[in-house]
Amino acid sequence: MSETVTLVVNDIAVEMPAGSMVSAAILKTGTQAFRRSVTGEPRGPLCGMGICFECRVTIDGEQHSRSCQTVCRNGMDVRTEPQKGTEEIQPQKSTEEIQPQKGTKSAKETK
Ligand code: FES
Repeated sequence: MSETVTLVVNDIAVEMPAGSMVSAAILKTGTQAFRRSVTGEPRGPLCGMGICFECRVTIDGEQHSRSCQTVCRNGMDVRTEPQKGTEEIQPQKSTEEIQPQKGTKSAKETK
């Protein structure tokens, strides 16, 4: 029988096989946006090997922790952005909602 650990991701208890990475535990909760870019775009794991820093989350109060490089531990508290109770990430505008710049046509006009 394999050993498991239980951690908390955004107030959701998650049971994972021992040795699993925090990024996998976050994805298991259905969360895909781990953080926001400086322009507000949702970001999530890209490389899975510690290079891109797109998987940064807050782990036990320590911000900017790479979740793909952190092994799950019992009782660990993991927070993604936006945290519960804060503004939800808004879906990207469709191409038809984006206003054209001067001298260009909108997606509607090009159909
Ligand atoms: S997914 Fe690239 S650093 Fe974690």
